[in-house]
Amino acid sequence: SEESLVLIKPDGVARNLTGEILSRIEAKGYQLVDIKLIEPERSLLAAHYAEHEGKPFYEPLLEFMESGPIVAIRIAGNRVIEGFRSLAGTTDPTTAAPGTIRGDLGRDWGLKVQQNLVHGSDSPESAQRELAIWFG
Ligand code: GTP
Ligand code: MG
Repeated sequence: SEESLVLIKPDGVARNLTGEILSRIEAKGYQLVDIKLIEPERSLLAAHYAEHEGKPFYEPLLEFMESGPIVAIRIAGNRVIEGFRSLAGTTDPTTAAPGTIRGDLGRDWGLKVQQNLVHGSDSPESAQRELAIWFG
């Protein structure tokens, strides 16, 4: 089966939504392979978000990701990459569909960066790259 990297971003951890988000992953039937609470170095975040370097939201995004602990999770299952993206909902939490993590639990707080609770790898190549960054 396939693996993906999920992050519960600092807003999700700070709002005590870790259990709720893990419940949704488990209820869907995906397997938790590895999990840790981490406050990553900037270099790790820069590697993770390399594709966004130079964009206007890049610096605020890294500052947001440094603002508190993150839960990093290795999950597995058939078609888990697209499956978790579907569970998460679209990037903007205000318009993410109800029933999704972002749609049910997230909204625009008027901050500089979309605080959208979770990250999920978006392709098999991204998943392999990101799992190596976060889990070595
Ligand atoms: P991730 O699962 O976190 O990668 O989200 P995504 O794949 O839905 O979005 P993407 O990879 O394009 O962007 C990464 C993160 O940068 C997003 O989750 C947002 O927090 C932030 N972001 C992306 N696009 C924008 C934008 O246009 N404006 C702002 N303010 N933030 C953005
Ligand atoms: Mg992305």
